[in-house]
Amino acid sequence: MCGIVGYIGKRNAQSILVEGLKKLEYRGYDSAGIAMFTTDGLQVRKAKGRLAVLESNLETAPLEGTVGIGHTRWATHGKPSDVNSHPHTDGSMKFSVVHNGIIENYLELKEELIAQGHRFVSETDTEVISHLISREYDGDIVKAVQRAIRHMRGAYALGVLTEYEPDRLVAVRNASPLIIGIGDGEHYIGSDIPAILEHTRDVFILNDGEMAVLTKDAVELMTIEGNFISREMIYVDWDVARAEKAGFDHFMLKEIHEQPKAYRDTMRGRIDEEGRSVILPELKMTANDIRAIRNVHIVACGTAYHAGLIGKTVLENCARLPVEVDVASEYRYRSPLITPETLVIVVSQSGETADTLAALREAKRCGARVLAITNVVGSSVAREADDVLITWAGPEIAVASTKAYTSQLIAFYLFGLYCAQTLGTQDAAWIAEVLAALQSLPEQVENMLEQAETVRAYAEEIAQHEHLFFIGRGVDYAVVMEGSLKLKEISYIHSEAYAAGELKHGTLALIEDGIPVIALATQSALLEKTVSNIKEVKARGAVVLGISDTGHVAALGKAVDHVLAIPATHPLLTPALSVVPLQLLAYYASLARGNDVDKPRNLAKSVTVE
Ligand code: M6R
Repeated sequence: MCGIVGYIGKRNAQSILVEGLKKLEYRGYDSAGIAMFTTDGLQVRKAKGRLAVLESNLETAPLEGTVGIGHTRWATHGKPSDVNSHPHTDGSMKFSVVHNGIIENYLELKEELIAQGHRFVSETDTEVISHLISREYDGDIVKAVQRAIRHMRGAYALGVLTEYEPDRLVAVRNASPLIIGIGDGEHYIGSDIPAILEHTRDVFILNDGEMAVLTKDAVELMTIEGNFISREMIYVDWDVARAEKAGFDHFMLKEIHEQPKAYRDTMRGRIDEEGRSVILPELKMTANDIRAIRNVHIVACGTAYHAGLIGKTVLENCARLPVEVDVASEYRYRSPLITPETLVIVVSQSGETADTLAALREAKRCGARVLAITNVVGSSVAREADDVLITWAGPEIAVASTKAYTSQLIAFYLFGLYCAQTLGTQDAAWIAEVLAALQSLPEQVENMLEQAETVRAYAEEIAQHEHLFFIGRGVDYAVVMEGSLKLKEISYIHSEAYAAGELKHGTLALIEDGIPVIALATQSALLEKTVSNIKEVKARGAVVLGISDTGHVAALGKAVDHVLAIPATHPLLTPALSVVPLQLLAYYASLARGNDVDKPRNLAKSVTVE
């Protein structure tokens, strides 16, 4: 995920910026750069690759100055490259910008600016911002930034410099974090606390819709409309390791809490303003291409495969197309019936999983059209697929996937609804109803995360056991498969996920006194059946935790020992909520067992061997 650092003061900015960027490396990036005022005016150095590449450029051509901005980029618009790296400038090299987030209407703005004579060199949305500010400038950088952002839609944290006012650094926050660090005769900006922690622990945290104007001697805080505000300074007493995790004890917990943002970012710009239809301008496939699809294969590994299982239900419901889901390592070897009318959807957080990539190549060899759902722009899967839907979860650092999985679900919902509206397989009212529910999910997840302590208490109890079972029907079965994988990989507790109705065909023999069973039952139509299965395991001594939505939890509560309620939503969307307590359960069970939560034994984040 991109990182921002900025400095204005009395020391040479170059090393402060580079060291600040090093503190942001943990977030993941593919290029880096800095811009500074020097005696030769505004100068930029930037390079694709690790920070060491930028450092070596700076060794050859160092910069001298006391004001600057820096950035680590994690590609969103445009591949990782020198020219797409930040900072970006306007054509005159008088304005420079670093940006985290996404400008939804950048193409529209770019066309407008091109028509007005602006020339662009990169594929990024950020370059549009520097041109916009330059267009709006009439002698006051603060007013120019305020006018520019009125034209922008989307999420942004910005650091802005202009050579015309070398004693000012402007910072803006809208839906992407930014903090201001207070020093003595020097001030800082940072997208995260670690970027500036070496220099100061006194910070102002900007809220959405706020900006700051920094000089070396003062910081003014104001709304983006220009109304001055006062804010209490916060003293950060975290150590660097905790600061990297934004105060959470582990990356996994941080990433679980980042899910509302990941949902919003994955939906951003993909739903029309009235909330009635899905827009996916990044897809090259036309309506006719979609009409030509006869069947869909979803291929992935691990957690991404579990997202694919939900994807099957979504596409079958929305597009009324037959869907098969395969584990990528099996797909090639079963001679799948792939034709040019097959749409193959590969799902991969990293976009580098060897088996998934091999399946993609096999699908293309057989003439299928391939759509990739991936979290990494410029990854192998993204480059080789015909179409790409990026999940905007940001880099995932914990080995156990959480926000990448739920963002994959959001991508499936969007694609499913897009197919439904293209094929006319669902009516407009149904699509609008699902879209409304989809847009409520981030807030519902935020509310659920407040219940984390309840899950923790239960997790500490199951951490004492060596075996347990998860059961569910329909999409709940697919979700408990993910819950079981999560628990296995970080707590090392053996668990199995079963279709609730299948237990009695053999596995019921393993149920004995005191064994924990977690039953997920969110689907009205299947509730009674699942309750019967719960009774079967309870009769054999199981201790059951039932999870359902607020509408069904009372009925379920009568049949189980413990109960947990999740918010109610459209039946198709429940996985995006019900998986959250299962992620927390795995996290807290792992913690209770004293395991290395973020780096579980024997596992790697990205599996690049077959
Ligand atoms: O990067 P990918 O999504 O292709 O990775 C696939 C699996 O290796 C991955 O989901 C794995 O199962 C996770 N560690 C599970 O948490």
